[in-house]
Amino acid sequence: MHLPNLEEARKRTDKKVEEKTVEYQYPKAFLNKKYFLRTYGCQMNMHDSEEIKKYLELLGFVETTTLEESDLVVLNTCAIRENAHEKVFGYLGRCKHLKREKPDLIIAIGGCMSQEEGVANEIKEKHPYVDIVFGTHNISDLPKMLLEKKEKQTIEVYSIEGDVYEQIEYKRDSNITAWVNIMYGCDKFCTYCIVPYTRGKQRSRKLEPIVKEVEELKQKGYKEVTLLGQNVNAYGKDLEEGYDFKDLLERVAKTGIERIRFVTSHPWDFTDEMIEVIAKYDNIMPYIHLPLQSGSDRILKLMGRRYTKEEYLTLFHKIKEKIPSVSVTTDIIVGFPNETEEDFLETLDVVNTCQFDSAFTFIYSPREGTPASRIKDNVTIEEKEERLQRLNALVNTYSLKKNKVLEGKIVPVLVLGENEKDKTKVYGYTDTMKLINISNGKDCIGQIVPVKITEAKSFSLDGELVSEGEEIYG
Ligand code: 5AD
Ligand code: SF4
Repeated sequence: MHLPNLEEARKRTDKKVEEKTVEYQYPKAFLNKKYFLRTYGCQMNMHDSEEIKKYLELLGFVETTTLEESDLVVLNTCAIRENAHEKVFGYLGRCKHLKREKPDLIIAIGGCMSQEEGVANEIKEKHPYVDIVFGTHNISDLPKMLLEKKEKQTIEVYSIEGDVYEQIEYKRDSNITAWVNIMYGCDKFCTYCIVPYTRGKQRSRKLEPIVKEVEELKQKGYKEVTLLGQNVNAYGKDLEEGYDFKDLLERVAKTGIERIRFVTSHPWDFTDEMIEVIAKYDNIMPYIHLPLQSGSDRILKLMGRRYTKEEYLTLFHKIKEKIPSVSVTTDIIVGFPNETEEDFLETLDVVNTCQFDSAFTFIYSPREGTPASRIKDNVTIEEKEERLQRLNALVNTYSLKKNKVLEGKIVPVLVLGENEKDKTKVYGYTDTMKLINISNGKDCIGQIVPVKITEAKSFSLDGELVSEGEEIYG
């Protein structure tokens, strides 16, 4: 048994990160048994789930989307905010109930929550019906843990990050767009954030294997890749090779894959050269997710964000000037400890200036072990909620305004699949990452097609395929 330790997770060791490969030879010990996998949180977690699915299927498992049918439940968890915990423990209640009816049901928990000292201890002490707990650094141990499963609970979570694995195989959810990890972990230590503890120190993959992975995806017919990392534009800073994110972007662009995206960028690591590369290549999408977090210099400093409001705005304007068609989205936290009304108004001021295409907004949630969680807070939850509402109202006005500009225009859309709620429609994304529902695109799944926008809403747009002869991208 290995339990996580917060003190250890905080440490940044000089241990050299090695490149390793994963074992893929397993007996089909669970032939035709069914697994149910539920993923919480960010794209990184969704991509990890694609890795988990591959291992499970190598062991003989087949996927089910019905919990009650499953022989194995895997919860791939998120720790970013408290409500993520509540959701997982709520769901775990359902699994526990099911296990009463099906005693052979295996319950496994992985992801960021497993990496937390408090959570791992809680599972050990209060949730004995959970069979397996694995962490973010040892996903590839899951097959072994399943094969060697004992009667007793198995907890294998390592606080210190492992090495960088290459040639990982995935069971990808889509055959049109693919996630490509370019780095793991984060060294920024924003004071509110748990990620540097749950995901470990920054470890970039080498450039060549990433380019090779994109080339292979292109050959398989993928239209789009999203380069993934907690802090993508710090890519390469932990390597001795001398290349950085702009070099990687350029090499990936030269593979000729049709669409390239990347998340998430930190304003502090954005360079002019990166902006130039994004502007230069048509296949790098004009879309940047650029978390602001707060517009108040005082709060930004307390958050450890390393930029001021002015510096953020300068970067924002530079991006807009060099890439005129760009859409910029952001993340904002309200109610950081002791945030005043004045601080909050500074945030609204940046929103008014930048008029983001959309924003993910959150109420600050104290995470155990982070520096911010030790600050005594005098802001009530009611005040925080009220600020969130005001912020959302403003953000939504700009989203709608930005979307309205597109009404009547023709935009290129990569069609991804059927609309879940209305099967007569399909959905896809513009180059600027706007969600479009298309009334007549059934035959276009997997293609980039011209779509005329018929109606704009705050969170999506409706459109129809352009009929032949209509002017494209007018
Ligand atoms: N409380 C609230 N929001 C948080 N985020 C990260 N940590 C916290 C926290 N403790 C938000 C940030 C980040 C996004 C992924 O989640 O805005 O950019
Ligand atoms: Fe968390 Fe992002 Fe800051 Fe890293 S850069 S500590 S992932 S908010």
